[in-house]
Amino acid sequence: MRELVAENTLRPADFILPMFIADGIDEPNPIGSMPGVVQHTTGSLLDAVAEARDAGIRCIDLFGVPRPGDKDATGSVAWRADGILNRGVTAVRERFGDEILVMADTCLDEFTDHGHCGVLAEDRSGHTIVDNDATVELYRRMAVSQAEAGAHIVSPSGMMDGQVAAIREALDDAGHGDVAIMAYSAKYASAFFGPFREAVGSSLDGDRRAYQQDPANFRESLLEVELDIDEGADFVMVKPALPYLDVLRAVADTSPVPVAAYQVSGEYAMIKAAGANGWVDADAVMMESLTSIKRAGADQILTYFAVDAARRLQETRG
Ligand code: PBG
Repeated sequence: MRELVAENTLRPADFILPMFIADGIDEPNPIGSMPGVVQHTTGSLLDAVAEARDAGIRCIDLFGVPRPGDKDATGSVAWRADGILNRGVTAVRERFGDEILVMADTCLDEFTDHGHCGVLAEDRSGHTIVDNDATVELYRRMAVSQAEAGAHIVSPSGMMDGQVAAIREALDDAGHGDVAIMAYSAKYASAFFGPFREAVGSSLDGDRRAYQQDPANFRESLLEVELDIDEGADFVMVKPALPYLDVLRAVADTSPVPVAAYQVSGEYAMIKAAGANGWVDADAVMMESLTSIKRAGADQILTYFAVDAARRLQETRG
């Protein structure tokens, strides 16, 4: 009866699995603050993608971790065909074709030696700032290189103004009109990203409050979403997920395009840590949190739990 009347149901195909590929490693490298998540080699990445596919996952989101010595002020290894992220995209696309969608993270923070999502400049008071427009020019190159590497979807996560329009134009001009854009539209300057910084070996010293949103703001998210849809976003995203379900609900109520939510590294780490201590039943909390994100209106959920949750759904249905 409960299943008959359930208003919301999770499916494995709802989940998008974020994954990390690192340059210069021979073995997968565990991420301490995200138990069960690793930086992959190309080989282990392909094995893990096969597992995800077998569990019913239809999309992965790939992040690249360069060798520390390859980082520079502009993050130039990000748009090189032989950069680690593009190599990873190509390897997955060559192996899996269209069996699983490959989304690439379109942002410079993993590749810059200062860890910011763009290039730095000085404002008139002599403060260091991220130069929005110069950064967007680099995002164009990065997105085109990702499309050329085989990405089905590019996902600008840097919160620069105008990034979606610029990337859409660059992709179209380069003949990649069929590559979709998942826009990180409502992305908050969140402490819940903490473990991710370890996951990508971030060089960031400081914060991103100048370009990501203030957690106090709600209406601002509606504007960010509207702008991204006008600029050509094929999906919009709210991030993090659980602390921002009010924002997610409001976006889902009005967005004409699919709405994704990102259950971020800190959300994952907290559930894992409490579970490891025996303080909560981590599997039950995993399913409850994902169900809540879906109930709040997410069409897709980016989650490090994707494979575990998909398997659990297969077990309980089968
Ligand atoms: C930036 C980016 C971040 C995450 C995804 N893309 C970090 C940040 O904005 O500081 C965080 C994801 C997570 O915490 O799981 N490219």
